[in-house]
Amino acid sequence: MKVLLVGKGGRENAMAWKLAQSPRLTGLYCAPGSRGMAQYGECRDIDVMDIEGQIDFAKEKAVDLIVIGPESPLEAGIADRFDEEGFKVFGPSASAAKIETDKDFALDLMHRYGIPTGTFATFSDPDEAKAYVNEQGAPIVLKAAGLAAGKGVIVAKTLDEALAAVDEILVDAAFGEAGAKLVVMEYLDGEEASIFGFTDGKDIVYAVSSQDHKRIGEGETGPNTGGMGAYAPAPVITKELQKEIYDRIMKPTVDALASEGTPFKGILYGGIIITAKGPQVIEFNCRLGDPEAQVVLPLMKTDILDIFEAGVNGTIGQIQMELDARAACCVVM
Ligand code: AMP
Ligand code: GLY
Repeated sequence: MKVLLVGKGGRENAMAWKLAQSPRLTGLYCAPGSRGMAQYGECRDIDVMDIEGQIDFAKEKAVDLIVIGPESPLEAGIADRFDEEGFKVFGPSASAAKIETDKDFALDLMHRYGIPTGTFATFSDPDEAKAYVNEQGAPIVLKAAGLAAGKGVIVAKTLDEALAAVDEILVDAAFGEAGAKLVVMEYLDGEEASIFGFTDGKDIVYAVSSQDHKRIGEGETGPNTGGMGAYAPAPVITKELQKEIYDRIMKPTVDALASEGTPFKGILYGGIIITAKGPQVIEFNCRLGDPEAQVVLPLMKTDILDIFEAGVNGTIGQIQMELDARAACCVVM
């Protein structure tokens, strides 16, 4: 089977490494890929947002399956376009990807379907946002509703910080269009973990839990980054919590997206916080985590090509996920 993998980061490097282990793989193409990914497949310098260029490459190489790594082309509808062209693509449609690309949509969906998360309100008017923030008090979390490369979230410890963040997002447009809508969310206190489910829109199989570390300074000081490292499994996720997260959060979210008419086919990433009230969602993503992919994929024994193919064919329910009982960690340098 010939596969096109879209992306170029550490996550996609880990995906290429894993795909290359499949005995069923007959060709791997990466666009744009990287020098690391060139160890596993043929790379072609086509930007992830050049959707028509990606389609031409897939046609030229007559690939059987396309896997999308990052979120921005998913938001732009790359999966929909490949689908229209008759390709098999593992990655959500733009409408289903809204679970990540529109935090207002995601929180509203969770509230409507009773999926545990914090209270929230969404604003485009700074005065209304400030009135709400004053009423709620601090700590409180302010988020640009759209995609902001992992940087659009401000966890405000004080009311002054929160009010300044309203101006930063809605008045100064620090995150551009992504911040046209501001989501103000309850601060959830607890340890975080990342949960990855591979789904065909109905059934799900899971990778091991993991944790990433975002702050740049030694000892969790300094600002948030896209991720400085990760490890798996996450000790905080006991067997019982894992079951609760699958049954009360992950599966209901996949079902909710299906009942809304936008079934989610791809990798659903639950950003979960273990609060005193139990597991709650801080956000969903529509892809694997980076750097988490680098620790969860090495702990997967099942052929990832079988999973991707089942995801596309609607047969995830037949997949037996086999996991390695050991641990993995990675450091980003
Ligand atoms: P996100 O980009 O949504 O993953 O948020 C970045 C980081 O902000 C998360 O990893 C959390 O540490 C923190 N965060 C986001 N939402 C909340 C929340 N509601 N309560 C507490 N921390 C949050
Ligand atoms: N590691 C955080 C993310 O992939 O969004």
